[in-house]
Amino acid sequence: MLDAYALIRPMMMKLDAEKAHRLTLKLLKSPLAALLGGGDDAPELETVFMGIRLPNPVGLAAGFDKNAEVPDAMLKLGFGFVEVGTVTPKPQQGNPVPRIFRLMEDEAVINRIGFANDGADIVTRRLSERRAASRMGKIGINIGANKTSEDWIEDYCNGLKRFSGLGDYYTINISSPNTPGLRSLQTRDALKPLLDRLLAVREQMSKVRRPPLLVKLAPDLSPAECEDIAELAVHYDIDGLIVGNTTIGRPGALRSPLREESGGLSGAPLRTMALDNLRRMRALTGGRIPLVGVGGIASGQDAYDRIRAGAAVIQLYTALVFEGPGLVRRIKRDLTALLRRDGFTNIAQAVGTESR
Ligand SMILES: Cc1cc2nc3c(=O)[nH]c(=O)nc-3n(C[C@H](O)[C@H](O)[C@H](O)COP(=O)(O)O)c2cc1C
Repeated sequence: MLDAYALIRPMMMKLDAEKAHRLTLKLLKSPLAALLGGGDDAPELETVFMGIRLPNPVGLAAGFDKNAEVPDAMLKLGFGFVEVGTVTPKPQQGNPVPRIFRLMEDEAVINRIGFANDGADIVTRRLSERRAASRMGKIGINIGANKTSEDWIEDYCNGLKRFSGLGDYYTINISSPNTPGLRSLQTRDALKPLLDRLLAVREQMSKVRRPPLLVKLAPDLSPAECEDIAELAVHYDIDGLIVGNTTIGRPGALRSPLREESGGLSGAPLRTMALDNLRRMRALTGGRIPLVGVGGIASGQDAYDRIRAGAAVIQLYTALVFEGPGLVRRIKRDLTALLRRDGFTNIAQAVGTESR
C-alpha cells in the first residue's frame, strides 16, 4: 500500500479533491488497509500527553476522518493518535461543492467545507462499536456547532455529553473560518461563559477521571486576543491548546491560480505562521498548558521544530494529501534521528528547549 501510493498518486491528483478523499476513505475501509504499516515506534517517541500514553507524538489532525470512519486504519498507518471530527450535534451538509482546492504549486489546500458531517448520532454509534471491539489506539473527538443553531454554547456542551466515554480527549473547535461568526467565540467575553459551561458539563461526565479538554485556536488571532486566551486557559486550567487551525490569510507568495478561493488555507504556506503562533502561546502560557503544534508540518524537521518551540505533540493533515501514507513513517524516523543527534533520550525532554 505504501509504495502503491506512488502509482495511484497521479490519478488521485487528477480527481476532484473531495472525490479523491472519498476514494481514500473507501480504500482505508477495504481489505487493502490490512497492508498498512506505520513501522515500529522508537522508544524515544513514546510520550504521555495530558495523562494519555501515546506510542509517538505524531497525530492526525481533525478534518481527515470527520465521521470516525477510519480511525483504526489511520492508527495502523502509524499515527500516535487520531482526532476525529469536527462533529456537530445534528448532521450538516456544509457549503456547496467544490469546496476543497489543492494548490499544487504551493503544497497547500484551501477548504470551505463548513462542518459537513454525519452528526453526533451516527458518529456516536460508530465510536461505540469501536469501543465494543476494545480498540486501544487513542482517539480525540473534535466538537463543533451547527451553523443554524440558536445556541452554539449549548451545541458544544451537548457534543461533550453525547461523546462521553468515547474519546480519550475532546477538542472544542472555535476556530473554523467556515462557519460565519464562530471564531468570535475566541474573544474573552465569549470564551469565558463557554468554558464555564463546558467545565461544568465535564465535571458531571466522569468523577473518576476528568477527560482532557482542549481548545483549538485560529492562527489569525491578534496579539491581544492571544493574551486573553492564554490567561483564560491558565485560569481555567484547560488541558491543552491546539495551535492551530487553517488561516483566512494568504501568507507567502502563493503561486497557484486557486489562491483566490475563499476558505481556510493549510499546508506549507502556513508553516512559519503556525510556528510563530506556537512560540507566542508557549511564551504566554509559560509552559503551564500543554500545546499541540499544527499547520504545515511535512517533515521530521518540521515536527522537531514545533516540539522544540513548545509543542508536546504535533498533528498534520495537508502534507498527507501531497506525500501519501509513507509520510508518517518518514517523519517518525527523522524525528527520532534528530532527537538522538541532540542527545535526547525521550521526546518529552526536547519540548520547549528552543528558548533555553
Ligand atoms: C480539507 C480540510 C478539512 C478540515 N476540517 C477540519 C475540521 O473539520 N475541524 C478542524 O478542527 N480542523 C479541520 N481542518 C484543519 C486541520 O485540522 C489543521 O488544523 C490545518 O489543516 C493545519 O494543518 P495542516 O497544514 O497539517 O493541514 C481541516 C483541514 C483541511 C485541509
